[in-house]
Amino acid sequence: MQKILMVCLGNICRSPLAEGIMLKLIKENNINMRVDSAGTSSFHIDEAPDHRTVLNAAKHNIDLKPLRARQFKASDFEKFDKIYVMDKSNLANVLALASSESHKEKVDLLLNASHPDQYLEVPDPYHRGEQGFEDVFHLVYKACQHITFA
Ligand code: 4NP
Repeated sequence: MQKILMVCLGNICRSPLAEGIMLKLIKENNINMRVDSAGTSSFHIDEAPDHRTVLNAAKHNIDLKPLRARQFKASDFEKFDKIYVMDKSNLANVLALASSESHKEKVDLLLNASHPDQYLEVPDPYHRGEQGFEDVFHLVYKACQHITFA
């Protein structure tokens, strides 16, 4: 079974959304995959996702309320087959904790799944309005579809 970890900065906006979307796609399509999410920072440990992300996801029939933030740790390199990060800053922070080439090879930008080799970032919606959250939803959803049906 493939195990995937979604990573952003706070683990309250982008990566829990990616986890929720993956959980829905995995369930609906009976895919043999496990997914979790984490943040590179300690800012929001044990918090529920941001209410704006929860509201936006709910509009798309995805319930993020039960999720809780946790911090990415080096042992995640052993537990997961693939680690998808949202932006280049997350990429640098995760790679800084890698202790081998095989760990580094597990890490990629999420949007490289839908836009191969383009190194596009999922923008942080934290300081943006409702449309920012909706834009992030569609970007993340498309990448998750590629991962699910790869
Ligand atoms: P996320 O968004 O990385 O997508 O969860 C953020 C949430 C909180 C903060 C930054 C980004 N923050 O600085 O508190």
